[in-house]
Amino acid sequence: MDLDAEICHCYHVSLRKLIRFARRTRPTHPARMSECLGAGTGCGGCVAKLALIAEMAGQPDEEIIRAIAERWPYD
Ligand code: FES
Repeated sequence: MDLDAEICHCYHVSLRKLIRFARRTRPTHPARMSECLGAGTGCGGCVAKLALIAEMAGQPDEEIIRAIAERWPYD
């Protein structure tokens, strides 16, 4: 997993874009992550990852990547 990994497959939104969005907007609710190119508004399969990214936005990229890889080791 790296920053170019596609987190939302429905809308082709990368981890890099989602982290940048979360740091810039500091979403008060995870659903606000959908304002980043529609992420999470298709099948919904990425919503848990979007919530984690929003929650961890203040942490270094490496920590976010590690947390995602731990929770979804087969993605
Ligand atoms: S993978 Fe993000 S909405 Fe389907």
